[in-house]
Amino acid sequence: MSADETSFSSADPTSKIIVAIDGPAGAGKSTIARHLARHFGLLNLETGAMYRAFALKALRAALPLDESRGLESLAAETAIRLESGEEENHVLLDGEDVTGLIRNQTVTDAASRVSVLPAIRAWMVRLQQQMGAGGGVVMEGRDIGTVVFPQAEVKIFLDAAPEVRGMRRYDQMGPEPAQQPDEVIRDLRARDERDRNRADSPLKPAPDAVLLDTTHLTLEEVVAAAEAIVAARLVRLAN
Ligand code: DC
Repeated sequence: MSADETSFSSADPTSKIIVAIDGPAGAGKSTIARHLARHFGLLNLETGAMYRAFALKALRAALPLDESRGLESLAAETAIRLESGEEENHVLLDGEDVTGLIRNQTVTDAASRVSVLPAIRAWMVRLQQQMGAGGGVVMEGRDIGTVVFPQAEVKIFLDAAPEVRGMRRYDQMGPEPAQQPDEVIRDLRARDERDRNRADSPLKPAPDAVLLDTTHLTLEEVVAAAEAIVAARLVRLAN
């Protein structure tokens, strides 16, 4: 533990702080959010999982993914909850734990499509604001520092070159990858394109976000840098 971190105790701003982590797919947001949550005793809320769970419901209902009206009606009768787990959030879709069903390519692609719709975003943002209202959270996504919690005490924008992000994704696919590296990178670029260019809440760093480019950093280095950013902010808040 560094000298910086020892200068605040558990009775201080940590319990109320909101840490917003944004960035493109494969930048390492989930890993870093999980580390920060553990290290600082915060609740880890992964908002991408919420879009994914809703996309799964839309796919199951065989609804067109670009028709806002139908999806809005579906959203009106959908309950999505995130629960903290050891390794990742558990996502409850209408009470069903769908955590293991939302990481495949079909749902990934569908989540990217439904997330461009303003009505769906507005609904998600409301849910996320309710979940994080009490503070004491690390919330990770694309628009947390810009839209969901523009007042967040800490904002980190994680980024890395697309090839590096694609290869990290590929390496996570295990011994029998479903795709070749070039396909993974191509899909990731397509998602980037949609996330960055959508009219409503495009992916971009908040003006006051700390940019962390992880292209040439190891996981340990990124974790250390992110911890230092949060610790420094906590020290400033405590003084
Ligand atoms: O972080 P992820 O890959 O699990 O996110 C899935 C999709 O959801 C992604 O294509 C972008 C979208 N998303 C978003 O638009 N806003 C968020 N706050 C989180 C995710």
